[in-house]
Amino acid sequence: MSDVTLTTLLQLKQRGEKITMLTCYDATFAATACDAGIEILLVGDSLGMVLQGQDSTLPVTIDEMAYHTACVKRGNKGALILSDLPFMSAATLEQTFASCAQLMRAGAHMVKLEGGAWLAESVRLLAERGIPSCVHLGLTPQSVNVFGGYKVQGRGDASAQKMLDEAIALEQAGAALLLLECVPSELAARISQAVQIPVIGIGAGPGADGQVLVMHDMLGLSLSGRTPKFVRNFMQGQSSIADAMSLYARSVKDTSFPAAEHEFSA
Ligand code: KIV
Repeated sequence: MSDVTLTTLLQLKQRGEKITMLTCYDATFAATACDAGIEILLVGDSLGMVLQGQDSTLPVTIDEMAYHTACVKRGNKGALILSDLPFMSAATLEQTFASCAQLMRAGAHMVKLEGGAWLAESVRLLAERGIPSCVHLGLTPQSVNVFGGYKVQGRGDASAQKMLDEAIALEQAGAALLLLECVPSELAARISQAVQIPVIGIGAGPGADGQVLVMHDMLGLSLSGRTPKFVRNFMQGQSSIADAMSLYARSVKDTSFPAAEHEFSA
């Protein structure tokens, strides 16, 4: 695979080819995911739950994110590395710059911030300073205590319109990518059509420009024993992790994943 860049992602969107993203936290899985054709490796703060055994992403620190980003960079074979800014590492502009610098120095090509239109200024200032950003909208797990649980977002006309307006405002501010988590499929499709930048979905239906899953989820591994509705276990019927990752990449590309049973309605 030749190096995946922002231009590659825009070209994929323009020609209607779905983008493959998977979370990744270390060098060996990074190499395996690249061999399987994954285009974006997300060093997600989900590592707090799947690696550290925490009950949310809130305890994850910027130093931990930088450490795992550096691990992924060593195994990467041409994917674009996207790293999460963890809880409260971007609470002020100064802190945002310092946290992003740490992630970019560790090997990230892009950073991901959770929030909404209020991030527009940060997104603009980061772009001016050479740091592409992805904004995570919908169910943003760092705000679980505000939402009162892990709940579908963007249901109802007012809430859907607000998310659409936020997506457009963030694109105008210079966001390079959007990620929508747990939103009705119809809304994700509307947002994907309304913006020129790629939109990646998780629990957002087939209308997004690409898909992401937490690696442990798609391998059928769960500490809690609960599997979110939007997850498919790609290990089923496969004899290796490499095969499961290849099946995931193929299923995103041929649009057989996500299927109707993985979607949320409005
Ligand atoms: O941290 C993470 O893995 C994420 C995904 C749930 C998209 O943000």
